Amino acid sequence: MSLSYIAKNIHASPTLALNEKAQILREKGEPVINFSVGEPKSRAPIDAILAAVQNLNTGEVRYVPPDGIPALKKAIIRYTEEFYNRTVAPENVIASSGAKQAIMVALQAILNPQEEVIYPAPYWVSYPEMAKLCGGIGVPVYPEDGSFYPRIQDIEQRVGSYTKAIIINSPNNPSGAMYSEEFIADIVDFCEKRDLYLIMDDIYHRLIFDGRKPINCWEFAKKKDENSKLIIVNGVSKQYAMTGFRIGWAVANKKIIEAMANIQGHQTGGPSVVLQLAAVGALNGIQSSVENLRVTLENNRNVMCDLLRTIDGVKFKVPDGTFYCFADFSAYEKSSHKLSQLLIDKVMVLTVPGVEFGMEGYIRLSFAGTIKEIQEGIERIKWAIDPNAPNELYIGDRKLVRDWA
Ligand SMILES: Cc1ncc(COP(=O)(O)O)c(C=O)c1O
Repeated sequence: MSLSYIAKNIHASPTLALNEKAQILREKGEPVINFSVGEPKSRAPIDAILAAVQNLNTGEVRYVPPDGIPALKKAIIRYTEEFYNRTVAPENVIASSGAKQAIMVALQAILNPQEEVIYPAPYWVSYPEMAKLCGGIGVPVYPEDGSFYPRIQDIEQRVGSYTKAIIINSPNNPSGAMYSEEFIADIVDFCEKRDLYLIMDDIYHRLIFDGRKPINCWEFAKKKDENSKLIIVNGVSKQYAMTGFRIGWAVANKKIIEAMANIQGHQTGGPSVVLQLAAVGALNGIQSSVENLRVTLENNRNVMCDLLRTIDGVKFKVPDGTFYCFADFSAYEKSSHKLSQLLIDKVMVLTVPGVEFGMEGYIRLSFAGTIKEIQEGIERIKWAIDPNAPNELYIGDRKLVRDWA
C-alpha cells in the first residue's frame, strides 16, 4: 500500500498499545497487573464532573475558539500566577487537547524540516515521534555520568546550527528524576543566550515527593517580555487524574501562541467545551485531591522501592516524583523488549520496555495502581526472573509452573 513517508516512519505509542493490551486481557478475565499505565487511579475532582455535567445538560454543546474558552484561559492565567509568579494575558495562553497536543502544535509552530529538537534521555516516548511529524529530528542527550540527571555540558555539546529547541521534562517520565533548580536555571539561561526555544514540559510538576517544591522555570528567565522563547506546558491529566478529559495548555509569547492557535484551528479546532469546563472546575475547585494523590503516590513509591530492593541485581534510583520507577534489569535480561514480553507471557505483568524511552536494559514500572497490585506485581516479577525462585507460583487458584531458565 502506498503510505506517506511520515506514516511509514511513525511508530504507535507503546504505552497506549500496552494499555489496550491490558484491557483486552482483563476482559478475557485474565488476572493482569498493569504496571505500564500512565495515569492515576483516583476519580476526577467532583468540581470537574459537575461543571461538565452542567454544560451537557444544556444540550447546547457548540464549537469554541481554537485556542480555548475565556473561562479556561482565566483559570490558566491564575494557575500561572500561582505556580510561576507570572502575569500573562489571554493571548499568551492556548488550551489544547492534552499537553500532548500543546507540545505537538508548539513544535509545528517552531520547527522547520531537518531542524533538531534536543531532549535528555531517558525521554517521553512521544518526543521523537513528534519531531518526526514536523519533518524535524529528535536528538536525545545521554548524561555522560550515566545518571538520570542531565548536565548542561552534555546538552551544550549536542547543540549545533540545526538546533531549534530543547524540551525539558522534570520530574521526568520515565525516570521520576526531578532535575535540580541549578540545572533548570542553567538551561533557561543557556537557551536565552543561544536564542533557542525551551519547552518546559511541567505535566508532573506537583506530583513530587520528600518535601520537594515545584520549580518555577520562569523565575530564572531574564527575557521576561514578548521576546521570550520559553514555552511552558502543563495540564490536568496527571495532577487531577483527568487523563481522559484531554485538556492541557501552553503559556508563551503571543506570536507563538497565535501560530499554535492557527495550526490547532485546522487540526482539531478548540478542545471540546464540555471538557474545557471540566478543567475550569478542577483548576478553580477544591484542591485537596491533588495533595491526596501526591501523598498516595509517595506511599506507593515507597512500597515499590522497598520491594524492588529485595530483587538481587535490579538497580534503580528512587523516583523524586511522577508515578514511574525506571529500573535496570540488565543483570537478568539485556533486551527490555524480551523481558517485558516474558513478564506478560509468564506472569501477566505489563511493563514498558526501557528502549522505548531511549535506554535499553531498563523497564518502566508505574506505581499509580493500588498497594495490592504493586505487591503482587513485584512478587510475580521476582518469581519470573529469579532462577532460584520456587518452581511454582499461585495467582488466585491458578498454579504457574516455571518452565523457563
Ligand atoms: C512527559 C509527558 N508529557 C506530556 C504528556 C501528555 O499528557 P496529556 O494527557 O495532557 O496529553 C504525558 C503523558 O503521558 C507525559 O508523560
